[in-house]
Amino acid sequence: MHVHTTIASLRKALINADRVAFAPTMGNLHEGHISLMQRARHHAGVVVSSIFVNRLQFGPNEDFDKYPRTFEADCAKLRDAGVDHLFAPDERELYPQPQQYFVQPAQAQDAILEGACRPGHFQGVATVVCKLFNIVQPDVALFGKKDYQQLMVIRNMVRELAMPIEIIGCDTVRAADGLALSSRNGYLSADERAEAPRLHRQLAAIAESVRAGRHDFAALEAAAVAHLNEAGWRPDYIAIRRQADLQAAEVGVPLVVLAAARLGNTRLIDNLEI
Ligand code: PAJ
Repeated sequence: MHVHTTIASLRKALINADRVAFAPTMGNLHEGHISLMQRARHHAGVVVSSIFVNRLQFGPNEDFDKYPRTFEADCAKLRDAGVDHLFAPDERELYPQPQQYFVQPAQAQDAILEGACRPGHFQGVATVVCKLFNIVQPDVALFGKKDYQQLMVIRNMVRELAMPIEIIGCDTVRAADGLALSSRNGYLSADERAEAPRLHRQLAAIAESVRAGRHDFAALEAAAVAHLNEAGWRPDYIAIRRQADLQAAEVGVPLVVLAAARLGNTRLIDNLEI
């Protein structure tokens, strides 16, 4: 695996590449990230990943400074997964001066759920992903459904800005007890880690109820919020929405149930397609 810290070096290496698949990350890699790399291999001869903790997508009171940085271990995992090129710029390389041009996602998609809880987050994501796409110029890019709204924002950015890139959504990789793998799981204490799968269990219960024919979505959401509150969580939202655009759920279209909740100081997100 070739490691590139500059845009120029990566561009030079890819100049004759035939078909490129790209899976960007912020590092601290786990099996969820690695599943994207393995899937990428099916789509292209050249697999590129990136590690960059993107300041633009973190709010002022979020965990940018303490976000886990485990570069050496990450490199070993990417190498084992067969990644050909890793782009790992520092901030001066990607943002030599403060970024002043931004990609602003549509309000309808930015003002809801994660975007409502984390103002500016998706603008930061869309801006860095657009920039990474311009650097890597992939034919295919892979994103996890774990970050369901992020995947939707990227799909829409690519469509509306006519970027010639196929976006592939990959299933969420979970621990045996159901907890979605996440770099932020490392913040959990042992007791919190034991409690954490409750979030997935609540989503699974809602999905089961909807499949069984319940359509009282607001009541299902409220019951799950109350249940999590009783168990000591602080939920931001539990929401049953349309898969296509994350707008209000209706009967007869594909649905997804999404959640964000704090357990102690750790904010966890998860979702399940119904
Ligand atoms: P990061 O959180 O490192 O995630 C990188 C990619 O891995 C994303 O597409 C994410 O959805 C996927 N992923 C994370 N956990 C997963 C799991 N358990 N199963 C499957 N896929 C999983 O998402 C970001 O970084 C950033 O926002 C980024 C897109 C890199 C822009 O900075």
